[in-house]
Amino acid sequence: MNSVVRNMAAAGDISSDGFRGAMRHLTGGVSVITAGRGKDITGMTVTSVSSLSVDPPTLIVSVNREASSWPLLMRHGFFGINILAADQIGIAERFTGKGGLKGAERFAGGQWTTSVSGVPLLVGALAAIDCAVEETIERHSHAIVIGRVLDILAGGRTAALAYWQGRYVAVDQDEDAARLAEVSLPLAHAHTR
Ligand SMILES: Cc1cc2nc3c(=O)[nH]c(=O)nc-3n(C[C@H](O)[C@H](O)[C@H](O)COP(=O)(O)O)c2cc1C
Repeated sequence: MNSVVRNMAAAGDISSDGFRGAMRHLTGGVSVITAGRGKDITGMTVTSVSSLSVDPPTLIVSVNREASSWPLLMRHGFFGINILAADQIGIAERFTGKGGLKGAERFAGGQWTTSVSGVPLLVGALAAIDCAVEETIERHSHAIVIGRVLDILAGGRTAALAYWQGRYVAVDQDEDAARLAEVSLPLAHAHTR
């Protein structure tokens, strides 16, 4: 396997606040990772999910190795990715561990089904994806987890939940398309003159 790892001596000059401030500009789709089975379950809210390859279908997510999901993910070798809808902020909040919620407590208030691999998947998510851990790359505080897609539950909804500038924002295809039309119509008119 090819890999390039450089020792970034200059990285010490970048402050954590400066880096966080820059990353606040990056809009991230909000998902909840689920791990474990039966009563031994937990999960976490993430914005780091990204598609890796279509053939075979794989995705990546970066997980803090201090998070309670990490040991379950490693022990069971499977995880779920639940891509949240705009009206699922409450679920996103529960899975950050806010208010001291732990493990199975985080699942209250949502409707869950059990995937092929045994992890809980959220009914009503935009899409819920069952994954097998293909590889983990431990780097710094986190691990990049490569997931092989085993199954997909498609929700048929469209308004997504995103996180930007430290807050949740709704991305609604219909509303945003209408707003875009408002902005682009005068422009289109200007171009025809
Ligand atoms: C919007 C948002 C996005 C997050 N994205 C990630 C992420 O990509 N990776 C990660 O490790 N933690 C991420 N977190 C933090 C985890 O949700 C949080 O640390 C975890 O659920 C709590 O850990 P615990 O399970 O040990 O209580 C994010 C938090 C928020 C609010």
